Amino acid sequence: MRGTQTINSKGHLTIGGVDTVELAKQFGTPLYVYDTALIKERARQFKSAFSKHSGLKWQVAYASKAFSTIAMIQLARELDLSLDVVSGGELYTALKAGFPPERIHFHGNNKTQDELELALQAGIGTIIVDNFYELQLLNDLCRDRNQRINILLRITPGVEAHTHEFIMTGHDDTKFGFNLDNGAAEKAVRLAMEASHLDLKGLHCHIGSQIFETEGFVRAIQLIYEYIERWSETGFQLEILNVGGGFGIKYVESDHPLFIEQYVDKIVAAVTGESERLGMAVPEIWVEPGRMMVGEAGTTLYTVGAFKDIPGIRKYVAVDGGMTDNIRPALYQAKYEAILANRAGEQADEEVAVAGKCCETGDILIKEARLPSCSSGDILAVFCTGAYGYAMANHYNRLPKPAVVCRLCRTRRSDACCPP
Ligand code: LLP
Repeated sequence: MRGTQTINSKGHLTIGGVDTVELAKQFGTPLYVYDTALIKERARQFKSAFSKHSGLKWQVAYASKAFSTIAMIQLARELDLSLDVVSGGELYTALKAGFPPERIHFHGNNKTQDELELALQAGIGTIIVDNFYELQLLNDLCRDRNQRINILLRITPGVEAHTHEFIMTGHDDTKFGFNLDNGAAEKAVRLAMEASHLDLKGLHCHIGSQIFETEGFVRAIQLIYEYIERWSETGFQLEILNVGGGFGIKYVESDHPLFIEQYVDKIVAAVTGESERLGMAVPEIWVEPGRMMVGEAGTTLYTVGAFKDIPGIRKYVAVDGGMTDNIRPALYQAKYEAILANRAGEQADEEVAVAGKCCETGDILIKEARLPSCSSGDILAVFCTGAYGYAMANHYNRLPKPAVVCRLCRTRRSDACCPP
């Protein structure tokens, strides 16, 4: 049980005091249910982890790619977060939600001219420039519009972090950013400083996702400072250092992520330490959590339908959703845990495979789920689906996208709820 999840006197799972079985009845399944109290708690933890470092300037930007709806962006606004968007669609959603444009940061490795124009027209705060094409295009567009814009350059530091490990790749084979080791980053810094309509405020890096250690962040920060030292004669001033997102969460019992404060403390120590070493002012530190902000707050409800028991091999329990509402198990072999929401207190004495309803053998949501022996009509609750579930939902087999309910508003039309 996470956040505000409990079991009520009927033996039903409740979230935020609301009976999930009633939610399933009212809105149908599959259904994404968000515990907004837990999202608020995560935002509070980030803010308090930073604010205890007195004198430090910082921003926590919610990476909206993890879950972007108008209601969610309005919550991010209420929580005084900044916002990271990666497309015209995410930017449009943010603007529709009334998010202050100056606190929006725009990412992406191939922003189109239309997207950049929308960003400039909306007056967004910062564009994270990813490549030489964009650097030129953005400067030209600003010149045509007689407008200036703050930018960060996305740097690829040669560090890749995954869960418990980080790897020094030396040179990075990735589509994102300016590589440090081959001179691309230095050239980008020089061009950005010369650009007539761009104000280069600093650097950005993002080293991976679902990270359970801090060494990768520290190593990336150290590398960036090593290069800044080498570029000293360019006159480049690091006013902002954005270290990206990637903070890992507990999907299953065997996951042991760090506390938010542990990540933040190590990042702050590395940035302040390196700045002191070079005799520089400590830059403003930005982070971009997506999964950490919303992952554990989301639960997906399904209705159990058909069964297939292959004696001695496996028992399949099929639900009314699958890889359309959560593609992560099929795409990344991601693991999840589930319970029966209508029989939440009962002993989980059977091991089954939870199958989706798509025409694809790999459409298995949980390969080895421990559940009470279930019947058709039971409501299955899969935990921790708040990040990259709805966001990556698709219409394979022409299945519709499920609704989202949260404490803020309850409606079937998730994207149309809470109109501005
Ligand atoms: N900042 C940048 C530049 C990113 O590319 C990402 C994620 C984030 C922040 C947020 O990362 P988070 O804190 O959520 O780990 N679909 C995959 C995850 C892809 C992440 C892409 N970038 C998944 O479902 O695991």
